[in-house]
Amino acid sequence: MSADSKAVYSPPNKVVSISHCSSMEQYRRMYEKSIQDPEGFWGEIAKSFHFEQETTGKFCDYNFDPSKGRIFIKWLEGAKTNICYNCLDRHIEAGKGDQIAFYWEGNDPADRRQLTYADILRDVCKMANVLKGYGVAKGHRVAIYMPMIPELVVAMLAVARIGAVHSIVFGGYSSESLAERMIDAQASILITSDAVWRGTKLVHLKDIADGALEICKQKDLDVKKSIVVKHLCRVTAPQSAANGVANGNPSKKTHFDDKVGWKEGRDVWWEDVMKDAKSDCHAVWMDAEDPLFMLYTSGSTGKPKGVLHTVGGYMLYSATTFKYSFDYHPGDIYFCTADIGWITGHSYVTYGPLLNGATSVLFEGVPTYPHTGRFWEIVEMCKVNKFYTAPTAIRALMKFGDEPVKKYNLSSLSVLGSVGEPINPEAWMWYYRVVGNSDVSIVDTFWQTETGGHVITPLPGATPAKPGSACYPFFGVDVALLDEEGKEISGEGEGYLVFRRPWPGIMRTVYGNHERFETTYFKKFPGYYCTGDGARRDADGYIWVTGRIDDMLNVSGHLLSTAQVESALVEHEAVAEAAAVARPHHVKGECLYCFVYLAEGFEFNPKLAAELKGKVREKIGPFATPDYLQATSVGLPKTRSGKIMRRILRKVAVGDKEFGDISTLADPSIVDVLFQSRILDGKA
Ligand code: WTA
Repeated sequence: MSADSKAVYSPPNKVVSISHCSSMEQYRRMYEKSIQDPEGFWGEIAKSFHFEQETTGKFCDYNFDPSKGRIFIKWLEGAKTNICYNCLDRHIEAGKGDQIAFYWEGNDPADRRQLTYADILRDVCKMANVLKGYGVAKGHRVAIYMPMIPELVVAMLAVARIGAVHSIVFGGYSSESLAERMIDAQASILITSDAVWRGTKLVHLKDIADGALEICKQKDLDVKKSIVVKHLCRVTAPQSAANGVANGNPSKKTHFDDKVGWKEGRDVWWEDVMKDAKSDCHAVWMDAEDPLFMLYTSGSTGKPKGVLHTVGGYMLYSATTFKYSFDYHPGDIYFCTADIGWITGHSYVTYGPLLNGATSVLFEGVPTYPHTGRFWEIVEMCKVNKFYTAPTAIRALMKFGDEPVKKYNLSSLSVLGSVGEPINPEAWMWYYRVVGNSDVSIVDTFWQTETGGHVITPLPGATPAKPGSACYPFFGVDVALLDEEGKEISGEGEGYLVFRRPWPGIMRTVYGNHERFETTYFKKFPGYYCTGDGARRDADGYIWVTGRIDDMLNVSGHLLSTAQVESALVEHEAVAEAAAVARPHHVKGECLYCFVYLAEGFEFNPKLAAELKGKVREKIGPFATPDYLQATSVGLPKTRSGKIMRRILRKVAVGDKEFGDISTLADPSIVDVLFQSRILDGKA
């Protein structure tokens, strides 16, 4: 199936006829208003939320230009609200307490739960009281390291309810990564779970978390409590459990039930502490600009950045983008497959849907377990209307052909979303034709941890979509493309993707390091927020995001910095120097191709390769494992000033001999040697 990249796909009638924004003319009108009169536009939207107090200061105030002083962004200053109250109490007071908030679908299809808005509020209040009992107060950081279970949503909302700041770390990160983030955030409480099945793989979250707490202790961070959800004993283990304690013994019991690794005084079971907790707890009224959460994202120095979002602006933006990008209507069933450990899960599993009073699917498992039709089985079972996933998942499932999709009745679907990386037109077409039966709108949503919500996206009832393009800016987002000199490119062209002014959901700072925030996003082009992505604008004004233009790479939709991977590799005594680059991958989008220059006396062999891959897993997490490792005995290509030229290594990795100018290299002969011994496809 080849995709016609020039084709334009108009929204189907079933979407247009009920849409909140049902024509390009309406989109343009609303967009104009959002740019000309942000206060009028967002002020009107703010009316549907509960504010205990209205704005007392300026509606929006900011500085994007370092030469004019510190960078700052403020929305709704002085207004008082609570996002948890708006997610739960507001709907319950409107009589929606019995509505399902989440259909929880476990890793095994036998494991299912349903939670109403009232159920969640009760548990949130209990957990909020537990946290208060441990001394957690406004502004304190609480780390969360959990699987995709309802308790994760409860935990984050409980933290938000009492004005504390959640820092969720994806459950695929290693002990070291978790510890690094907890130390940076100075988190005094951790909420985790015993373990979780991901497909047939058992992940011992508590063990990993314990490892992290050990590191925290060594670095003088005193983590007072670790609250552990007892999850494993209530779910079904895979028939052919592949590893861990369940190997050959697929019973529901694990050693966690016996409290191995239990530290009295520090570790408590979630279930025990919830039992006696009171089920009412008032929401703390927060200033709109008070911190809501931090979420770490890769930084080009290798040290992750704690992206900080605040209460008011993030609330308006996550709610509004959810409503318009997915064209959400009451009664819809919505399913986002992202893990809450990433920003997509924050904004479009928890906050966006709950702020809209939506009913969603919360999925614990993986797309291919127990079979490759698992997503579609859930869509049929729950009658999902709006489905949101990543190109890497689409490509992984495309490999199995149309049959696993066609087995299910997917006629409930009307909007399909994509996020995390540019979606290749072939994957777009498969998603549209096979999953959507050519009768859906596809929304390719471009955004970042930093942007809080979608910033460039089609609207399902309005925008004629072009496969591979994120189309047009969302309301309030003022896009520009800049050339290398920082001059704006008008009309058709390609350049740096930047934004001229803030929208409510933009990050406010890097936690504990405002200077890094200024340097990373505002220094290169004063007056603009710089995304770090490149983009092209076509003759119709459509934006095509072309990918990162910094030292970042995107593996299966997860951003990694080359520096992060390199520093993991050089920790091994055998490695003198390392360089990591991206190589295109048919499923992951990009994968890691690493060059290692070995120290004296070491020889490259499969054992060392396995150790090096293990090092990256240990330092970062399994998702960052390199696909290719090439050892070099001649060194890495460097400029005379000693900077590694990754541009050349990227060429070597893909087998492209068009190196361009290599005369600035200290030793150009290295390039040929590296090229000769490059790893060909299939030889990894
Ligand atoms: C990339 C994920 C093209 C981009 C929400 C961005 C995309 C980075 C798209 C942010 C898209 C995300 N088209 N590229 N639709 N969505 N990206 O912070 O490079 O994990 O800068 O946020 O992913 O990744 P992050």
